[in-house]
Amino acid sequence: MPYYEPTILERHHGGALSLLRLYTPELARSARPGQAVLVRCAPAGSSDPLVRRSLFLAGADPAEGSVDLLISPEERGLVWLATQPVTAQLDLYGPIGSGFALDQRTRNLLLAGTGSALPALLFMARSAAARQCAVMLLAAAPPDRLPPPYLLPSAIEYQTAHTSAELLTLLSATTYDTPTTLSSTPIMWADQIFLALTSDLVPATSAAVRNGRLRWKPGFASALLAGPMPCGFGSCLACTVETRDGPRLRCKDGPIFDLRNLG
Ligand code: FES
Repeated sequence: MPYYEPTILERHHGGALSLLRLYTPELARSARPGQAVLVRCAPAGSSDPLVRRSLFLAGADPAEGSVDLLISPEERGLVWLATQPVTAQLDLYGPIGSGFALDQRTRNLLLAGTGSALPALLFMARSAAARQCAVMLLAAAPPDRLPPPYLLPSAIEYQTAHTSAELLTLLSATTYDTPTTLSSTPIMWADQIFLALTSDLVPATSAAVRNGRLRWKPGFASALLAGPMPCGFGSCLACTVETRDGPRLRCKDGPIFDLRNLG
């Protein structure tokens, strides 16, 4: 797996979130929405904490040679990372995973998510908007952990919720007037759906999609499953998830799975 030593170009804070922009041209050229990196979150000379943190890329700019990390400092490793100054050098491995597969024919893209994989949807939103897709992003988080709207192109419809239950309600709501019609729901409107979920939300999300679409083809709804990926290359088995095809590793087989194979 490629190894990089990026320098922090910019650091911004908003609410409880921190955005780090890293200068790493090669990674910026190869990164795709839905991929993660394994970042060392300990000071030089220290191995505490020992395990690298897996973070989903929140953006990449090949022209600038930069990638973005949006950090919610939930624990001490991420707290350390979020407080590193501009010009500090990090070290990371990646990218992990194959990323979201956006169908060339998709015109209406629905993104919905919560939890630590949510930043991947920001990257996907910007990438799809650049390909002239109509994009709706539904995000759930506590108010101080919701991604700020300025990270998204203005053409994207961005709806927020504070709990995963509210997110499920948004997915099936019929009261949107743009870009859907009153008789539609986000699920019915979408040509493709990309989700960022924790495993416990898969059954209810699958049911919501099934209610909106009695039948759907493989590739219509994909779920990025959040969770730790300590090694990132298939040796520790700590990222195993159950699928209809049997156990799979998020780091090698995912972390994006067809929703039909999960719930
Ligand atoms: S992170 Fe170790 S096997 Fe997936």
